[in-house]
Amino acid sequence: MSDVKNMFDLTGKKAIVVGGAGDLGRSVSAALCEAGAGVVIIARGEKGEQYAAFLRDRGFDADCVAADLSERAQVDQSFYSAVERLDGSVDILVNAAGLQRRHRCEEFPMSDWEMVLEVNLTALWRYCQLAGRRMIPRRSGKIINIASMLSYFGGYTVPAYAASKGGVAQLTKALSNEWAGKGLNINAIAPGYMDTKMNKNIVSDPRRNSEILQRIPAQRWGKGDDLKGVVVFLAGPGSNYINGAIIPVDGGYLGR
Ligand SMILES: NC(=O)c1ccc[n+]([C@@H]2O[C@H](COP(=O)([O-])OP(=O)(O)OC[C@H]3O[C@@H](n4cnc5c(N)ncnc54)[C@H](O)[C@@H]3O)[C@@H](O)[C@H]2O)c1
Repeated sequence: MSDVKNMFDLTGKKAIVVGGAGDLGRSVSAALCEAGAGVVIIARGEKGEQYAAFLRDRGFDADCVAADLSERAQVDQSFYSAVERLDGSVDILVNAAGLQRRHRCEEFPMSDWEMVLEVNLTALWRYCQLAGRRMIPRRSGKIINIASMLSYFGGYTVPAYAASKGGVAQLTKALSNEWAGKGLNINAIAPGYMDTKMNKNIVSDPRRNSEILQRIPAQRWGKGDDLKGVVVFLAGPGSNYINGAIIPVDGGYLGR
């Protein structure tokens, strides 16, 4: 019988966190490290190395690979480099990169549409595929995709983001249908309104801020640390019979 204390212990596990140096990604990377996993962050520019160094200073096993996720060759290359740094295998993949572009639908530039879909959905798909190929022969692995409230709602002036995040939720279920029987758990977390730079325009607009707060039963914006528990749960054995779920972490927003 499993001891519940072990269900949140990731000692010896190897994790890749794509976007692991972003506002929410940093909490994901820290949570996995604090639960005992070795983590390789995939991030653009120097942010990934800076955060990996911060984690190493705290005594954790963290490293980084740089990649621009809008370049398909860099997606593949970064995955292979990350696995190499993890000594050849990966137990946990978290897809936490993403970007937002806002324009009215009738004016939405194709270049922004393509960029959002490429980074939020196509790169995520490819990392899932590459990780799945490594995990299936071992009949074990945890994939956690970061979805959104826009996996449920259409939003306003964010058609590409809504399409991409709807896609992330559907893709999570599609992968789970094929891979759950092969020993893998593929799930998604749908954060609610989080106080991050992606939302800085809304947080700093008193009218929009108060409209949103009125709809959140918990009466506050979410923060990165609100994701830590659910990430560790989905990455560990406590979630072995959870497959294809989209778990909201939203202070009750969806229930209103
Ligand atoms: N902030 C929120 O309220 C919120 C709510 C729901 C879902 N999300 C999702 O959570 C995830 C993390 O968001 P966040 O708030 O931490 O945003 P963030 O901007 O702080 O982090 C996103 C990360 O993705 C990376 N990224 C973007 N384009 C990239 C590219 N071309 N190549 C490599 N990396 C790239 C950024 O560098 C950044 O590190 C995203 O998928 C986002 O859609 C955020």
